[in-house]
Amino acid sequence: MLDRAFAESRIAELRRLIEKHRRLYYEENAPEISDHEYDLLEKELRELESLYPELKRGPSPTDVVGGGISKGFAPVAHPVPLLSLENAFEENELREWVSRVAKFTGAEQFSMVGELKFDGLSVALFYERGKLVKAATRGDGLVGEDVTANVMRIKDVPKEISKGSSDLVIRGEIYMPLKEFREFNEQREEAGLEVFANPRNAASGSLRQLDPKVTASRPLSLFCYQVMKCSDELPGSHWERLQAMDEWGLPVDGLNKLLATPEELTDFCRKMVGRRKDLPYDADGVVAKVDSISLQEKAGSTAKAPRWAVAFKFPPEQARTKVNEIVVQVGRTGALTPVANLEPVHIGGVTVSRVSLHNEEELKRKDVRPGDTVLIERAGGVIPYLVRVFAEERIPGNREFRFPESCPVCGSGVHKPEGEVILRCSNRNCKAQLKESIRHFASRDAMDITGLGKVLIEKLVENGLLGSIGDIYSLNQEKLEPLGRMGVKSAANLVAEIDKSRARGYEKLLYALGIRMVGEETARDLVSQFPSIEALSTADEKELTEVDGVGPKVAAEIIEFFKTPDNLKLIDALKKAGLKMHGDKKEAGPLSGLVFVLTGTLQGFTRTEAKEKLLAFGAKVGSTVTADTDFVIAGEESGSKLKKAEKLGKRILSEEEFRRVLGGEISALNETESRKHGI
Ligand code: IVH
Repeated sequence: MLDRAFAESRIAELRRLIEKHRRLYYEENAPEISDHEYDLLEKELRELESLYPELKRGPSPTDVVGGGISKGFAPVAHPVPLLSLENAFEENELREWVSRVAKFTGAEQFSMVGELKFDGLSVALFYERGKLVKAATRGDGLVGEDVTANVMRIKDVPKEISKGSSDLVIRGEIYMPLKEFREFNEQREEAGLEVFANPRNAASGSLRQLDPKVTASRPLSLFCYQVMKCSDELPGSHWERLQAMDEWGLPVDGLNKLLATPEELTDFCRKMVGRRKDLPYDADGVVAKVDSISLQEKAGSTAKAPRWAVAFKFPPEQARTKVNEIVVQVGRTGALTPVANLEPVHIGGVTVSRVSLHNEEELKRKDVRPGDTVLIERAGGVIPYLVRVFAEERIPGNREFRFPESCPVCGSGVHKPEGEVILRCSNRNCKAQLKESIRHFASRDAMDITGLGKVLIEKLVENGLLGSIGDIYSLNQEKLEPLGRMGVKSAANLVAEIDKSRARGYEKLLYALGIRMVGEETARDLVSQFPSIEALSTADEKELTEVDGVGPKVAAEIIEFFKTPDNLKLIDALKKAGLKMHGDKKEAGPLSGLVFVLTGTLQGFTRTEAKEKLLAFGAKVGSTVTADTDFVIAGEESGSKLKKAEKLGKRILSEEEFRRVLGGEISALNETESRKHGI
């Protein structure tokens, strides 16, 4: 038995720690410990509180669900509390749960549903007669935050469902898929912004934004997993309800499974542990739910969690290892990134030998030193990250890492642009930047030059064969063959690949050039508005920001790029090498020559869908209403753009009219004109 006095002080300490880490997790989206470590703190507190019930004075964090409510969002009272789940860490705890359910319900055998426990942010979605009318975060389970304006802007959240006969409250999880999370973080890193530690923080940080436009620009998705309330009669089993949600048009995970026995449940959990690393989204466990709703009702709930469900938590994908050294890498845009080289360690099926420490501030905050023992985590398919240092095990003499005051590659000065956390090398001709720019140019999503990888680029630059991106197109077999182990065949293959890349096209080239803040999506938008690199290179801020998705910051980067003599020289060299610098002449469409601007929320289309449809019809899509705008398509909650359009006497299309135009009724455009004149 534990010493009572010790238990008392440990309980106090655990409460303090749990509260602190909850705040970091829920309110600041910046956790300092891993989820598993947090779970262990809660588990320890719960165990101590049950050993010494008399020490459980006042409200304990073990009774509280989730996070709180931030200022800036209106409170929403949940019509049905959004409860949390009890955790099971071992298979035997899962079996104990099954026995408990049997005891509470009196049922000897019952079916269950196995679902993944999506690692995102829990939301309640309110649909009235088929239309999404409100969305709220979980908050403390009883009162959440009103995030309607933000959720309305998320493409994957249906604004309309086919279940129009009743009013519904649906519970689901907003999450950021892994591929999107990686790209999003890369873009942030490149722009000098702080990166998110994991997809869950990214989802939470993206949804709880005061400006819905920010949410709209983030790649968020949704899975629905519970009908909380419905004014109609519903099927009597959870499994059928999941299927009903799917039929109504709500996104439901395809991996959900109906399970007849406890053995099938254990089997499902084991399978999911194995599949975890291949999932396109992050999941931190399996949720087991009793299938029959009447049995669920019999089992009931505690104040915190239903008895008819349990979360089987995946074992943590973490490992301890040693930091061998810390190096500072220089990226394509000159960003100095500290990286810890580790004693290789196996985590979740892969060997991890290095981990990014992102920037100087992060390195200082975590106080990582060469020689330290550290905890590395690799959740799902996410890039590994350093959870913490075991400072208590530090060997005396492990010295603090001193961040270089000059570029570690070329020795030039470094600077930190205002508002950024990243230091950058000031020398545009820095070899590290050159190598990384070539790597980006040749990468799969850009010019896709197979064979031109990191090692070869390193050699070519060091041997003076590549002094700029343009030199790629003067490489030939004679130059390549003498290089190290490059055989005749691989040299010929590479030359052929380089040759093929000449035809990759304007859009890929624009992305490949590596203009800061111009990712694939922005490159696509720019190409749709500017028919050639030449046209783009002379565009001013006004013209650029008229492109949907281009704000003043991106416009400034584009202008800066085309002002730089080295870049103009590069474009010239690429033109001479025969690369395509313009788009294909677009077939004239029914909307050719017309400029549209989208505003507000459309019910039947996401912003991207509407834009793509317009482009396919030959129209141009602008981001702001200007003298050149022909039509404004106004959805719900259209704000300043609609006002400006009215002021400028622009023709305004409703969603219905837009739909008719897309259906081939181009004459609907003329009706709009008549309406404008008040006929
Ligand atoms: S069911 C009363 N199902 O896990 C029903 N929750 O603490 C309780 N979660 O924040 C929730 N995937 O947001 C349920 N398939 C799933 C889930 C799921 C993720 C989250 C939920 C909650 C946490 C439980």
